[in-house]
Amino acid sequence: MTNLVLVSDDGPIRTIRMNRPDKKNALTLPMYETMAAAIEGAAPAMRCIVIAGAPGAFCAGNDLKEFLIASEHAEGLAPPLLRFLYALARAETPLVAAVSGLAVGIGTTMLLHCDHVVAASDVRLSAPFVHLGLVPEAASSLIGPRRMGYARAFALLAMGRSLDAAGALAAGLVNTVVDAAHVEAEAMAAAREIAALPADALVATRRLLRGSPDEAIKRINAEAQIFKSRLASPEAHAAFAAFLEKKKS
Ligand code: COA
Repeated sequence: MTNLVLVSDDGPIRTIRMNRPDKKNALTLPMYETMAAAIEGAAPAMRCIVIAGAPGAFCAGNDLKEFLIASEHAEGLAPPLLRFLYALARAETPLVAAVSGLAVGIGTTMLLHCDHVVAASDVRLSAPFVHLGLVPEAASSLIGPRRMGYARAFALLAMGRSLDAAGALAAGLVNTVVDAAHVEAEAMAAAREIAALPADALVATRRLLRGSPDEAIKRINAEAQIFKSRLASPEAHAAFAAFLEKKKS
């Protein structure tokens, strides 16, 4: 457990809030553990989960210090991170995201697993995996092109071009754009609407829409294998070290 992720239940709605604003909600291994457990343990009592961050910072992606350590020890994606990715792919409880400000790396790719995304007008989605010497994760290499088409997926996931609110809306990554002050209220309203739907019909519909999670899990594992070798690469090592070095100076 970590207090860097806050989990709270309000009736049938669970909120998972990333709570490391001083680091722009960069995710550490204990944070992944807590988030995974909160998703895994939600059904059947919880009827909807809202994933939220901080104003201006939904999530700055994986903690680059932890990636540097993994890179130095020739390790791959750590079990807590994989557990979180599997939990997203296998979730039976609908996922709503309330996204303000920046969403980097997994901050963006986790949105591909959400059923409904409310974004603030200041949102900026980015996935600079290749710039960091890495490859996309979270089955984004599978779901991304399907969701937004190959051209947009390549610009986002390979070229590392970011999307503003209008771009994210046009790409089909978000459902609604509202003023930053209203993001959470709007997400809660959507969560309440979802939670009030007939439960069994919704579960069945969701399974039909999403298909079997096995395909996503298989892709998560395939990406993770390549990610491991990329983490150990000189390109990645240099990119992490450069980010952390810049922060010192
Ligand atoms: N890992 C570790 N620390 C991070 C981080 C990350 N992914 N993202 C931000 N931080 C830390 C910064 O080091 C800084 O810490 P400090 O105050 O101790 O120096 C703090 O969060 C604030 O970040 P800062 O860079 O000063 O804010 P900014 O508004 O100028 O820029 C970002 C925000 C997110 C654009 C920038 O921090 C960034 O590019 N982060 C890396 C994002 C990334 O590549 N994620 C991995 C994707 S796979």
